[in-house]
Amino acid sequence: MEPPNHPIDRSRGRARGLAAVLATVLATATAVSAGLAMPAQAASTLKASAEAKGRYFGTALTRGDLGISAEVNLAAAQFDMVTPGNEMKWDATEPSRGSFNFGSGDQIVSFAQSHGMRVRGHNLVWHAQLPSWVSSLPLNQVQGVMENHITTEATHYKGKVYAWDVINEPYNEDGTLRQDVFYKAMGADYIANALRAAHAADPDAKLYINDYNIEGTNAKSNALYSLAQSLLSRGVPLHGIGFESHFIVGQIPSSLQANMQRFANLGLDVAITELDDRIPMPADSSELQQQGTDYGKVVNACLAVARCVGVSQWGVDDGHSWIPGTFPGYGAPMMWDSGYQPKPAYTAALNALNSVPDTSPSPTPPTSPSPTPPTSPSPSPTPPVTGACTATLTTVNSWPGGFQSEVTVRAGGSAVNGWTVKWTWPGGQTISSLWNGTQSVSGSSVTVRNAAYNGSVAAGASTTFGFTANGAAATPALTCTSP
Ligand code: G3I
Repeated sequence: MEPPNHPIDRSRGRARGLAAVLATVLATATAVSAGLAMPAQAASTLKASAEAKGRYFGTALTRGDLGISAEVNLAAAQFDMVTPGNEMKWDATEPSRGSFNFGSGDQIVSFAQSHGMRVRGHNLVWHAQLPSWVSSLPLNQVQGVMENHITTEATHYKGKVYAWDVINEPYNEDGTLRQDVFYKAMGADYIANALRAAHAADPDAKLYINDYNIEGTNAKSNALYSLAQSLLSRGVPLHGIGFESHFIVGQIPSSLQANMQRFANLGLDVAITELDDRIPMPADSSELQQQGTDYGKVVNACLAVARCVGVSQWGVDDGHSWIPGTFPGYGAPMMWDSGYQPKPAYTAALNALNSVPDTSPSPTPPTSPSPTPPTSPSPSPTPPVTGACTATLTTVNSWPGGFQSEVTVRAGGSAVNGWTVKWTWPGGQTISSLWNGTQSVSGSSVTVRNAAYNGSVAAGASTTFGFTANGAAATPALTCTSP
């Protein structure tokens, strides 16, 4: 669907379409010959390079986009994940009560499957693009209607979507939940109810909460972080957080990586789901260069967070973006211009991907920087480093009935190769989720050993593991040994 107020020169697009992929490859070859930081074996498409790093690189496509050959050729060449721009939303899939229409969504899925691309389902519950029959329901009917919608749609796409944005944009900017019809009917419980219904319908899909202006640490992302902790502590099937990332040129939040990392440390996947970077028009060359810097920063942030599974741009080219229609005076937010030519943002994103060593995809996260503690920490006493290693526990957050802790394992005067941390819970606490280590529990005794990737710690250096637990926050004495 073309955004309003944004004429598109389609004839030019078609004529230049077949050249677009070639132009992209040439741009990459030029970058290589210019000596930019790309290894000899550097992949020449976003998807190939992302896959070599165990990630995906995606795009949003609408049914209208499928008819524009230059755009879909470019999408198929560069991306391995598709998010339907509008076709799986409530207004498209259940325009009147009980009357479902999956035709447009099916076309997107079929395009993706025939080009070896996966699909992010978008979305199941959202206050916008919601038919008026839903928002005007008697409140005592909303839960049943919502769960029926989720069950029917998630069952229809079962096995065909990698992930679902189950809850889309639930928050106001101040960190309060939007007072939409779902909230009015069920309070905050609508979120858990929706996630449970989606999980029952498609147990293999990764279930996300997706929002904008949560990319940096702020009131909105703090509220979502608390919600995520609460949902996980109650066993609600939440698997990931989508950071939409609709940025303004030069304004990537400096806390992006640390913010994603703190969610990842809860045991969640994280993803950049709707990336674009708008520029006041007309865009000059320094702004296009800055946009490249921005795209590089975003890709690098994802690569630095082990549980960041991928990056998706919200569209393909400047000629079909939603930005000019919604933000008059702004445009040029994508990696390709309206003639499908790659911009500095494309080269920067590809270089960022190619500048780190390839990894084989792994479900277990490698060790990563510690998040900024969100609440007043309460560390256990720091012991002197006299033996092989020491372990220090910090309570990073707590809530009624649960808490989250981080344990720092520090090597003594010699490097350690493998470590074991033990403690005894004082009051019946139980771990609900643990990351960056492997646990065994016997009654109140807990033993945590290093994961496969963080057993080697240099002399004086440290690594961390973390967990969420049920019960009252506690700081038991820890012992650390190394074989
Ligand atoms: O379907 C009607 C059509 O019948 C009518 O003739 C036409 C006239 O303008 O409008 C059509 O609806 C448009 C709809 O897209 C479907 O194409 C709406 O006007 C238009 O506002 C709507 O825009 C979509 C927007 O979500 C709505 O909030 C954009 O295409 C879509 O890219 C955008 O996507 C959202 C994500 O879902 C969530 N995050 C933000 C992102 C950007 O806004």
